[in-house]
Amino acid sequence: MLMGKLTFILICHFGLEKVLKSEVRKLGLELAEGTDGEVRAIGTIADIPRLNFNLRTCERVMIEIASFKAMEPDELLENARLCEIEKFVPVDGEFLVTKANQDKNSILRSSQANQKTVKRAFVDRLKKVYNTQVLTETRGKYPFRVKFNKNICSIRLDTTGDSLHKRGYRIKAGLAPIEETLAAALIKLTEFNKDKVLIDPFCGSGTIPIEAAMIASNIPPSVDRAFVSETWDVIAKEEWKKARIEALENINQERLTMKEIKIFGFDIDSNMIRIAKENAERADVADLIYFETCPVKDFWNLSCIKELDGGIILSNPPYGERLEDRDTIVPIYRDLKVAYSKLKNFDMHVITSFEDTPKILGKETKNRKLYNGMIKTYLYSYLH
Ligand SMILES: C[S@@+](CC[C@H](N)C(=O)[O-])C[C@H]1O[C@@H](n2cnc3c(N)ncnc32)[C@H](O)[C@@H]1O
Repeated sequence: MLMGKLTFILICHFGLEKVLKSEVRKLGLELAEGTDGEVRAIGTIADIPRLNFNLRTCERVMIEIASFKAMEPDELLENARLCEIEKFVPVDGEFLVTKANQDKNSILRSSQANQKTVKRAFVDRLKKVYNTQVLTETRGKYPFRVKFNKNICSIRLDTTGDSLHKRGYRIKAGLAPIEETLAAALIKLTEFNKDKVLIDPFCGSGTIPIEAAMIASNIPPSVDRAFVSETWDVIAKEEWKKARIEALENINQERLTMKEIKIFGFDIDSNMIRIAKENAERADVADLIYFETCPVKDFWNLSCIKELDGGIILSNPPYGERLEDRDTIVPIYRDLKVAYSKLKNFDMHVITSFEDTPKILGKETKNRKLYNGMIKTYLYSYLH
């Protein structure tokens, strides 16, 4: 097994770096200086399964192989040849340079050319260190990425594969589902904990209630899925097993068996409620969430909600961009405002790109700019 410290680059949504940092700290890793959308942490090879299994707000766990200045193709080639990728890639390993970003502040800004140069450098390096003319590339998969920022090239090795928002429970969704990682981060921005009530009145496929139930019970988000690094020789099979057991042992069994439901999901579309229930079933949290078909104007009056004192509304209502146009969404936001006014001691957090939100819901206590996919949104928070 590879000894010594590694630098990890953990990708998250822009603006949510602090949330991810607090998750990383809880796992016991030391933090280093990061950039927008990227958190850096120092750990060991044994942390790769732990990070991938447990992080809720991270998209991808990568190892930083090297970082150097490169302003000419030859400089990139020479420096990439110095990367000790043989520490990870065996003689028959399949290694790909899958992505290179385009940075307008760097001289080398052709993504394709950079990808090709780095791949060539890696071929040269492995042939030399393994003393062979033939690299069969038949075993495992080692996806490298190249990122330029102001002429500094960072070479990373991805340990995750399919993005971490693909937890595996959401096979079906509606037209505009929120990413699981973003939903988890929003929940962590609220005061939510296992003893609090959380309501999503526009729950769609159930992502927010499901992520909340997983957080409340400490269910690790990604123990049941596969990772590209699971086949690598450099991580002992024992480490994957140990990390899986550790993650599963942390599940709050008491919360899972509690009869009282504190998490609610409502939607006007009965088909979405059916899908949300199926997704919750797959995520093993169906018993922790109450789903019901109900328009936003009525949910406050349901017997399960009416008597509640204190809680959180967290939701992404239709934005008007992807689902309905402005004329149809204004009444929906008005209905939300009225419903909120009927609840006692609730905070409300709404993520939306609909810029008239404060005009309809009222002046927010605070807001935060976030990206949901490519869409610029704001999380408007109303604290009681
Ligand atoms: C942006 S989607 C929510 C997506 C959800 N967060 C997910 O991850 O699947 C908005 C949802 O609002 C629902 N909706 C639209 N009008 C509604 C209304 N008047 N009352 C309740 N739900 C409504 C839609 O059916 C849709 O599922």
